[in-house]
Amino acid sequence: SFPRGPLRSGMTRLLLLLVLAVSCRCCPDKCLCSLETVKCQNQDLVEMPPSLPANTKSLFVTGNKIAQISDSSFPTRLENLSEMYLSGNEMEYVHAGAFKNLPNLVRLDLSNNSFQNFSESAFPNDSKLQFLNLSRSVNNYTTLHFFVHANLSNLTTLDLSNNDLLLLPDGMFNGLPGLATLNLRNSSLIKFQSVDKNGALPALSDLDLRDNNLTDLPNATMAGFDLRLDLRVQLAGNPWHCNCYISDLLAWLKDSTQVVDKIELTCADPEAVRHRPLLQVQQSQLTCTGDMQRVLKTSYVFLGLVLALIGVMFLLVLFLNRKGIKRWMYNIRDACRDHMEGYHYRYEINSDPRLANLSINSDV
Ligand SMILES: *[C@@H]1O[C@H](CO)[C@@H](O)[C@H](O)[C@H]1NC(C)=O
Ligand SMILES: *[C@@H]1O[C@H](CO)[C@@H](O)[C@H](O)[C@H]1NC(C)=O
Ligand SMILES: *[C@@H]1O[C@H](CO)[C@@H](O)[C@H](O)[C@H]1NC(C)=O
Ligand SMILES: *[C@@H]1O[C@H](CO)[C@@H](O)[C@H](O)[C@H]1NC(C)=O
Ligand SMILES: *[C@@H]1O[C@H](CO)[C@@H](O)[C@H](O)[C@H]1NC(C)=O
Ligand SMILES: *[C@@H]1O[C@H](CO)[C@@H](O)[C@H](O)[C@H]1NC(C)=O
Ligand SMILES: *[C@@H]1O[C@H](CO)[C@@H](O)[C@H](O)[C@H]1NC(C)=O
Ligand SMILES: *[C@@H]1O[C@H](CO)[C@@H](O)[C@H](O)[C@H]1NC(C)=O
Ligand SMILES: *[C@@H]1O[C@H](CO)[C@@H](O)[C@H](O)[C@H]1NC(C)=O
Ligand SMILES: *[C@@H]1O[C@H](CO)[C@@H](O)[C@H](O)[C@H]1NC(C)=O
Ligand SMILES: *[C@@H]1O[C@H](CO)[C@@H](O)[C@H](O)[C@H]1NC(C)=O
Repeated sequence: SFPRGPLRSGMTRLLLLLVLAVSCRCCPDKCLCSLETVKCQNQDLVEMPPSLPANTKSLFVTGNKIAQISDSSFPTRLENLSEMYLSGNEMEYVHAGAFKNLPNLVRLDLSNNSFQNFSESAFPNDSKLQFLNLSRSVNNYTTLHFFVHANLSNLTTLDLSNNDLLLLPDGMFNGLPGLATLNLRNSSLIKFQSVDKNGALPALSDLDLRDNNLTDLPNATMAGFDLRLDLRVQLAGNPWHCNCYISDLLAWLKDSTQVVDKIELTCADPEAVRHRPLLQVQQSQLTCTGDMQRVLKTSYVFLGLVLALIGVMFLLVLFLNRKGIKRWMYNIRDACRDHMEGYHYRYEINSDPRLANLSINSDV
């Protein structure tokens, strides 16, 4: 009769294994697989292909309509997946645990999307990620808050170019000790303050800040640059305000060898030096005459000084003339005394009832 018991369950297990092996080797619908590369491009996919070959090394899912990725987007562990390209997907959300089954992910291209929120737990704690591309995919710097708590200690290259950021979140670089290349070109930055003396970005070697809205650089930023000896910085294409406040930057630029495009920096303001190369402007031309705040500040200081001077002179006059003042006070005292005695005398006379009539008569 038909085999039973252990033999039958063994056959079932074998069949199951076979099915599993086949399903893991097969290429997902709408994808092309060759060797260890899987490409599912421009297919209007709305979610990640459900089962990827277990040996996948490179994955291209570009130009689709995948709005979000979460912990169910990669349900099986892909031990060998090291690079993944997801650009051009109109992607808005990356949820917690999204990349937890991709332990060896090294290169991730998320460019040309439109992220709203990015979970700080998207990457595993021991992520090996080295390259992250977020170019043209972030329109609000609050989206970048995930960097503050994410653990990406192996990240060396971060592309944040062509975004509309204005600012960067405080502490954004604290968890990125290995970052060497940072591209912030054309990201509408009005301020760059994140390279500080507290040791953030110790490995930074290439910083692109071209085509932003920077008008000046704070002293602390320049001091931070000075600490990184082999750093090269690009700063062209920013609207530098060549007034008195920029004189620290100008002095630093003249000495620094870090700003590789320093001869290309030009003034956007004020009118007198517009379009002039910053390095050719003299320190004496960096004035703030049109600047109401500074004028107001200096006039308050001046007023204070004048008042102090008047006070000092008044005290000096009092001191030098102390004898005269003493004499004058004695004179006044004597005059008062004479006067008061007169009153006193008349009062006594007036208050004597016996002389009341006499006094009234004498007054008349
Ligand atoms: C991953 O790659 C290694 C070496 O290339 C290979 O030996 C191993 O079988 C691969 N793993 C899978 C699940 O394909
Ligand atoms: C961005 O992605 C869209 C598709 O979502 C594509 O049409 C466009 O060409 C891409 N832009 C760039 C600059 O790659
Ligand atoms: C990021 O992606 C854009 C295309 O979307 C590409 O031009 C750029 O070179 C990429 N950046 C890096 C560092 O690979
Ligand atoms: C983004 O996600 C985090 C948790 O993942 C949540 O706390 C936060 O409120 C979200 N922010 C927005 C603007 O949706
Ligand atoms: C990372 O580790 C912390 C504790 O060290 C834990 O609370 C957190 O959940 C971990 N995050 C991930 C994504 O595993
Ligand atoms: C950025 O996102 C935050 C939270 O979602 C929101 O409060 C803020 O208004 C947004 N800023 C801009 C400029 O869109
Ligand atoms: C990052 O790792 C540290 C310890 O290595 C842990 O305390 C922290 O919670 C982790 N952060 C996240 C967001 O998992
Ligand atoms: C990744 O970072 C760990 C420490 O967090 C380090 O031991 C390891 O060498 C790094 N790997 C690479 C490839 O940089
Ligand atoms: C600069 O960034 C904006 C998005 O903030 C983008 O629309 C524009 O095409 C970018 N400019 C260049 C020259 O890439
Ligand atoms: C940034 O500069 C561009 C032109 O250089 C200007 O159109 C834009 O309004 C500026 N943005 C801010 C926030 O100042
Ligand atoms: C900036 O630093 C220079 C020299 O290091 C110093 O002379 C100057 O007063 C500083 N400016 C400000 C605004 O702190």
